[in-house]
Amino acid sequence: MQITSFKQYEEDYKKSIENPEQFWGEVAQNFQWRKPWFKVLSWNFNEPNIKWFEGAKLNITENCLDRHLEKNGDKPAIIWEPNNPEEESVTLTYKMLHERVCRFANILKRNGAKKGDRICIYMPMVPELAIAVLACARIGAVHSVIFGGFSAKSIADRINDSRCKLVITADGAYRGNKQIPLKDVIDDALIGCPTVEKCIVLTHIRTPVSMLKGRDVWWEDEVKHVNDICEAEEMDAEDMLFILYTSGSTGKPKGVVHTCGGYMVYAGYTFSNVFNYQPGEVYFCTADIGWITGHSYIVYGPLSQGATSVLFEGIPTYPSPSRFWDIVEKHKVNTLYTAPTAIRSLMSFGDEPLKEKDLSTIRVLGSVGEPINEEAWHWFDEKIGHGKAPIVDTWWQTETGGIMISPIATVTPTKPSYATLPLPGIQPVLVDENGNEIEGNGVSGNLCIKFPWPGMLRTTYGDHERCKQTYFSAYENLYFTGDGCLRDEDGYYRITGRVDDVLNVSGHRIGTAEVENAINMHAGVVESAVVGYPHDVKGQGIYAFVIYPEMHGEAELSKKDILQTVTRVIGAIAKPDKILFVSGLPKTRSGKIMRRILRKIAEGDTSNLGDTSTLLDPAVVEEIMDAAQKL
Ligand code: WT7
Repeated sequence: MQITSFKQYEEDYKKSIENPEQFWGEVAQNFQWRKPWFKVLSWNFNEPNIKWFEGAKLNITENCLDRHLEKNGDKPAIIWEPNNPEEESVTLTYKMLHERVCRFANILKRNGAKKGDRICIYMPMVPELAIAVLACARIGAVHSVIFGGFSAKSIADRINDSRCKLVITADGAYRGNKQIPLKDVIDDALIGCPTVEKCIVLTHIRTPVSMLKGRDVWWEDEVKHVNDICEAEEMDAEDMLFILYTSGSTGKPKGVVHTCGGYMVYAGYTFSNVFNYQPGEVYFCTADIGWITGHSYIVYGPLSQGATSVLFEGIPTYPSPSRFWDIVEKHKVNTLYTAPTAIRSLMSFGDEPLKEKDLSTIRVLGSVGEPINEEAWHWFDEKIGHGKAPIVDTWWQTETGGIMISPIATVTPTKPSYATLPLPGIQPVLVDENGNEIEGNGVSGNLCIKFPWPGMLRTTYGDHERCKQTYFSAYENLYFTGDGCLRDEDGYYRITGRVDDVLNVSGHRIGTAEVENAINMHAGVVESAVVGYPHDVKGQGIYAFVIYPEMHGEAELSKKDILQTVTRVIGAIAKPDKILFVSGLPKTRSGKIMRRILRKIAEGDTSNLGDTSTLLDPAVVEEIMDAAQKL
């Protein structure tokens, strides 16, 4: 199933469009099924109702673990690199990983988990996180991984939205020289989570934690009570595999739902092809398993292909900005998949951290999460790939389950800052505001997809109508991505960024409405408006305009108070980079905030504010512009 020439890409692409069912049916043959499907695809984008591999039975962990045991049982599945480079790294072979997943699956069962139950996972980047994810899949429980940076309130909202029965966490996490008390955060969250019956706690940083009798149990104690035999649960192709919460243009994050069969096929197929993975190679994705990139391209994609996946606990700049390059050298990494924000941050340290680092094993480079600017692309290409490693700029989303538009390493000619061409099976279209398809090349518009692919979301948890409204109602019979896009003269795609009220801060997706709601919860704040602005390292920064007539103390302290509130309500990742106190916001006569004007002010480009004739009070704009200059 691996594409090895551009000609083959063109042929496969053509076939995938002309006969999608045959195409995906053949791809799916490369996986292990308990029972075959009777129909590859039935679909309807109006409801929406999408079914792949109908009737088929499988368990994704048999594809990620059991099927490799006979020939590749002693091959490394996961190489764990700890936060502290002085500590030993850990290698888990497929045999070892299989055994540990089975043990932990038995622990889950012992604690009352069964097929269909939702389980929340809030853990550091340690092997046990991958083990917990796979153990859920083994018994058919639905995992909902929450990134370690979210607050107790965010966790509680997510746990309650999907009525989780169990929580898996650790005492704490290391992040560079910081320690994060994960269990404390979970304790705060669980005060408001009546559905949670049990909480399994891994010892990691050995910090004191409170353990509630009857609810909390230690991972290490539980292990003593189980064996390593756990038959995988037989799952329907369309049974739920996991929920992953993501932000949209409204205040409340959505639980994106992925199912077993289609997601497995799509994650495995795209992993193998986009990175041109070769047996025996070491692959390193720097994302966190708390995001979709980690789900698809640290855990499920690589393991389904029998690959060796590096799992790194720390951050790129600890203990020094050489850390990534030390890991590449130490583990002889062949593929490095990272984010533009990390590249830009490391670039800023110059060549010093690269001195005497052996990066010669690198064969393929990947970028994900946000548009990569040309400067960062060239630095990555020259300094890390030495001009020899193709860069795959992979465009996709939590909702798409896997990579959609991207070069195929060694196959597709690349172009800086272009995600290039759609993968086989993906039919992108550009549409204008009225939903008319814009044909031809040298055009731009809103990016939609007009045909289903196996990895696509099936619903948003507990609210199918919301899934329909958000993705399938903007344009008839199309999946709307929320991204703007340009198709150049060669037919190459370049993603230009979100066209909705969603920000991309250091590759993290954050809704402006979510941040506004959090700021507005601060006592004394009357109203706020949040917009993005270009940021050298983060891609986008968060700029908040806040009406706070009776500040508590001086302005600088009041800003810190607001940041504290945002940290409490969402998490530190959503903290505004800039706060401007204003006496009013630019509104239309009908009361709508004119964000377009605020965006211009945040960008520092006030020479042409566009049409301001509908403004209720133009003096407000003058005042904000003056204040912004002084910020
Ligand atoms: C949004 C999805 C997909 C994994 C990580 C983010 C932006 C993603 C690219 C890229 C330009 C990109 C889009 C997209 N995005 N990859 N290669 N070039 N933009 O997943 O949190 O669901 O965010 O990230 O705006 O809609 P996510």
